[in-house]
Amino acid sequence: KNGIQVAIDGPASAGKSTVAKLVAKQFGYIYVDTGAMYRAITYKVLKSGLSLDNETAISDIVRSSEISFAPSDKGQLVYIDGEDITEAIRQEDVTNSVSAVSAISTVREELSADQQRIAINGGVVMDGRDIGSTVLPDAEVKIFLIASVEERAQRRYKENIEKGIDTPLDELQLEIEARDYKDSHRKISPLTKADDAVEIDTTSLSIEEVVEKIASVIKDEL
Ligand code: C5P
Repeated sequence: KNGIQVAIDGPASAGKSTVAKLVAKQFGYIYVDTGAMYRAITYKVLKSGLSLDNETAISDIVRSSEISFAPSDKGQLVYIDGEDITEAIRQEDVTNSVSAVSAISTVREELSADQQRIAINGGVVMDGRDIGSTVLPDAEVKIFLIASVEERAQRRYKENIEKGIDTPLDELQLEIEARDYKDSHRKISPLTKADDAVEIDTTSLSIEEVVEKIASVIKDEL
């Protein structure tokens, strides 16, 4: 075996991808951003002009699309059917529609199956909403990251400013709360802490401190 499975779940903007990438690097594991996969499908749905309640057409899209990741010096690039959508999937339109698309059963079935295939040999850090609870129920390490909504909105605000996006802080907070509500209340595999997950509140911790805590949980399993 190449290493263990590490599942990192939690609400929007809790810092999952930032720490997951660093943890993966430290252990030489692959990093899988499952949110990017849901965002990729959402991007294609919006581009096709489909209504978000057209489950039949959206199911066809998820079955026929090829999502892939590739490393680069700017970080991990995301592709759908060969098109680089790394930046497009972070835009407001995708962010505000992704919870509706990710609530569709066929979308979840297809993407979860892909995620399970990627993780089958271990040596993987996967972040999302339902990784510890549903996708990788036997993951050796399960982390549930939380932070106050004010802190999460602040972090998103700072990230946005660096990218030249100037959305008001209160608007970001409402967007985060709305998305968490939808992700936690959907019928299929809602956002939830697995019983055996270790919860870490990152509100007053630095990135390094969070990485350190997760690394020590992993070392206990090796
Ligand atoms: O992590 P990120 O914010 O990029 O995720 C975008 C959206 O994808 C979430 O708000 C959620 O609707 C969906 N998602 C999901 N299950 C996952 C990961 C993401 O439903 N495992």
